[in-house]
Amino acid sequence: MKNIVDTLLQRTSVRRYERQAIEPEKTALIYQAIACSPSSYNGQQYSVIAIDNQELKEEIYALTGQKQIKTCALFLVFCSDYHKIEVATQQKELPLPPFQRTLDGILVGVIDASIALSNARIMAEAIGLGCCCIGYIRTAAPHKLSELLQLPKGVAIVCGLAIGYPREQPDQRPKQDQSLVIHHNHYHEEGMEELLLRHDHNIALHNHSHSIGTTDKGWAIHMTEYYKEGMTYHTMGYYKDQGYGILEEYDV
Ligand SMILES: Cc1cc2nc3c(=O)[nH]c(=O)nc-3n(C[C@H](O)[C@H](O)[C@H](O)COP(=O)(O)O)c2cc1C
Repeated sequence: MKNIVDTLLQRTSVRRYERQAIEPEKTALIYQAIACSPSSYNGQQYSVIAIDNQELKEEIYALTGQKQIKTCALFLVFCSDYHKIEVATQQKELPLPPFQRTLDGILVGVIDASIALSNARIMAEAIGLGCCCIGYIRTAAPHKLSELLQLPKGVAIVCGLAIGYPREQPDQRPKQDQSLVIHHNHYHEEGMEELLLRHDHNIALHNHSHSIGTTDKGWAIHMTEYYKEGMTYHTMGYYKDQGYGILEEYDV
């Protein structure tokens, strides 16, 4: 097993995997790491759909276009989940406040699911596996995917995680200078413009030397293109259809 410092400091996303199944003991460790995740109020407002069925992975690939989903050994779909509390409160005939229809309620489910994903990823990488987060699982065809995975109301997709034995060792991607990420005691803007220009340049150099076509896009253009694409996603509509949304007013 890799030590935790190396696991965290040497990580990169891995998108190519060996055709090798993950041993049940390793899968069990990943599931344990998920189950031990911290969650808001220990409410565990998340669920994970664990997919190892090849046909199903290929169906999901067809809907998302993300090749890693069909080539990985195990694909985990992390969801926000307010269905379990609905079942529990119905049993006890307790009224359930519509928390998932507030911004904080939406964030709680997304944060719980994201932390569980992070725990799964760290465990998987520590035991020799490679991972790639798949946000497209939420944005490409969320309605069709929810139907395919039989998600009830109250359960909504947050992010996927492809896991398998690595068939590549990608170089680490440039990251922002630490001072742009860690602000001591209060938010600092001194030197930000220059550091961001340097980061933009580093990303351009990395893209130039690592892309299959030659692209030398810097960070700012890369991000604005992504955000523009992101504006076409209908995530709020999807979350509303899964029983989420923002109530204008509510009485407690
Ligand atoms: C929330 C989230 C969603 C992501 N979605 C995708 C995805 O759909 N497809 C993909 O190939 N990579 C995806 N990634 C991986 C990022 O592209 C990757 O983390 C980033 O480029 C930095 O590279 P690194 O992980 O090697 O440091 C996602 C990462 C995160 C955190």
